[in-house]
Amino acid sequence: MTDIDGNAVAAEIRSGVADCVETLQAEGVDPALATVLMSDDPASETYVSMKQNDCEEVGMRGIHVDVDNDAPAEELYDTIEELNADDEVHGILVQMPVVDHVDTRRVLRSVDPAKDVDGFHPENVGRLVAGNPRFKPCTPHGIQRLLASADVDPEGKEAVVVGRSDIVGKPMANLLFGRGEGGNATTTVCHSRTDDLASHTRRADIVVAAAGIPEFITADMVSEGATVIDVGINRVERDGESTLVGDVDYDGVAGKAGAITPVPGGVGPMTRAMLLYNTVKAAGEQHG
Ligand code: GUN
Repeated sequence: MTDIDGNAVAAEIRSGVADCVETLQAEGVDPALATVLMSDDPASETYVSMKQNDCEEVGMRGIHVDVDNDAPAEELYDTIEELNADDEVHGILVQMPVVDHVDTRRVLRSVDPAKDVDGFHPENVGRLVAGNPRFKPCTPHGIQRLLASADVDPEGKEAVVVGRSDIVGKPMANLLFGRGEGGNATTTVCHSRTDDLASHTRRADIVVAAAGIPEFITADMVSEGATVIDVGINRVERDGESTLVGDVDYDGVAGKAGAITPVPGGVGPMTRAMLLYNTVKAAGEQHG
């Protein structure tokens, strides 16, 4: 069994990004990512500060804008407009979820599609579905890179995605069945309402677990030698202590899988690395 080391693959991506940042700077372009936070989810602040630290590590300019959670929604929309108009900002990420009184769909369509490094703008979603992505969404793109690092080529294989979120499940399925490198798999999307989920996952050469349910995928649900990618980050109480587990019962499934991603240290670091990758891509394209 191979443990797929997301930290190591993410470090390689960051190193490539750092080289691109230097090259762009030598050409007079200083790539910059703006993060925007207006969220009452306690994890969001941590995620955003990690993304800012990542920028620093690769020599990229990071700008952070905090919008007061009690401010009117207009303040967030105005912030996005200002960042859209700022030629020195190349990538914009509004951390999700935003507070309830903000219209999430309006936020997603407000970000300039050329700066939408999450790939969440409807135009960019459309391009992904049409097979011509501008920015591949960070988590599924990171998973493609993890599969490649483990020499797992999805072409012709059975892939089962468990979860249908806009951020992971849907774009993951599009990339897996789409044409091109890291795609061409026969792809099934399952979710919380799927009857007899195990009958699907047992068939799979590649399982992507992204349902947001702690240790949902157990050893009896995967076939011998399958590649299992765990997107879950769930905080649970164990023996009176708070601990982090994925959507996969790691200890059980590791004995059966051919390759598996741990939590933490699997998919998580890749999501952040691909955000940096999309930002240098955006900076390069905005400056022709
Ligand atoms: N919240 C959870 N994942 C993400 C992500 O990939 N991008 C943004 N903007 N918010 C998130």
